[in-house]
Amino acid sequence: MADRLTVVVGISGGIAAYKAVGVVRLLVKAGHDVHVVPTPAALQFVGLPTLEALSRNPVTASLYDDVAAVRHVALGQAADLVIVAPTTANTLAKLATGLADDLLGTTILATKAPVVVAPAMHTEMWQNAATQHNVEVLRSRGVTIVGPESGQLTGADSGPGRMSEPEDIVAAALAILQPPTTPQDLAGLDVVVSAGGTREPLDPVRFLGNRSSGKQGVALAVAALARGALVTLVAAHLEVPVPVDARLTVVDVTTALSLSEAMTAAANRADIVVMAAAVADYRPVEVSDGKIKKETGDGTLTLRLVENPDILAGLTAARRPGQVIVGFAAETAADRDELVTLGRAKAQRKGADLLALNAVGWAQGFGTDDNTVLLLDEAGALVAEATGAKSAVADAVLTAALSVRASR
Ligand code: C5P
Repeated sequence: MADRLTVVVGISGGIAAYKAVGVVRLLVKAGHDVHVVPTPAALQFVGLPTLEALSRNPVTASLYDDVAAVRHVALGQAADLVIVAPTTANTLAKLATGLADDLLGTTILATKAPVVVAPAMHTEMWQNAATQHNVEVLRSRGVTIVGPESGQLTGADSGPGRMSEPEDIVAAALAILQPPTTPQDLAGLDVVVSAGGTREPLDPVRFLGNRSSGKQGVALAVAALARGALVTLVAAHLEVPVPVDARLTVVDVTTALSLSEAMTAAANRADIVVMAAAVADYRPVEVSDGKIKKETGDGTLTLRLVENPDILAGLTAARRPGQVIVGFAAETAADRDELVTLGRAKAQRKGADLLALNAVGWAQGFGTDDNTVLLLDEAGALVAEATGAKSAVADAVLTAALSVRASR
């Protein structure tokens, strides 16, 4: 990215126009050459002298000023980046249709630069089918939509429609011009990740579950997406949000048996399979149709459980040629030596290419943002170790999986 960019900041006529002043200031402060193009309505909300003073460039809303310089297309042609903040419902509709009845419209039609719009309007207008359709049209043309946020609007109402903060708009816009820094070493590969914790129903209201939040599994899916993979996330009761991404398929599951079915189907075409989900080893022999009643007896209740299939072992037994399978093993161990000993036995039993071994306890492992894993190979030998944010651990696990793949 060039150090000094030519940035067009379009401003349309909404109350949030006062916040556009912040966008202009941040860009000028960062050393960029900023040209403000307000719509005529925007000048009802913010003064032309303010915009000229802050941008340090002449400002006009008219198509008929400076005609000799062919201003109606010159600004768009010269721009490295175009930001429209705020974008009202009306301007959004005009941009989607390609109308060019003012300087902002002609500028945007004439530009080849990335266009970023920051919508701002009342919730009803934002949620209106016409507006949503226009947003989709712009998105399909490669326009970046930043916001809107949910919050207090101009009147007494609040909800989605509030323009994003100037800092966020500028950061999102400049990020577009940065070359991707993440190596695309998983491009074209199909990665399947299970995440979260299974739940085995006892009756219509109760289940046997575990404390897995799904953070590590989701971090694996996010890291694989960032590195270019096509990802299937088999999700069992996640406590963390899942990103929206055209290369991500999410399959929701509940029990170990439903997770098994989803993983077996997805693994059929996978290059890398990661079993990060915490799967119940046992399920109730019987699931009661009605809520289990409190018995008047000796004060105890006995549940009969039956073993679930070992999904990981099943996947490794059915492994496709070239496929890399990674398991996770959470262990409560007194120290590192005991952890490695437990892990080595499990690695040999499961037959996965890699086993990511981590220590868990009452306050360790589940639900936390950080993790420490020891990566063991099929024979139980330690091949790598990763500690830090679950995103960093995810990258280390994927890198280890890639090196197993390369060694084949
Ligand atoms: O034996 P353990 O439950 O510690 O093994 C953990 C690994 O095995 C994890 O990768 C987990 O997803 C997987 N697992 C499984 N099927 C089970 C239990 C665990 O695939 N029934």
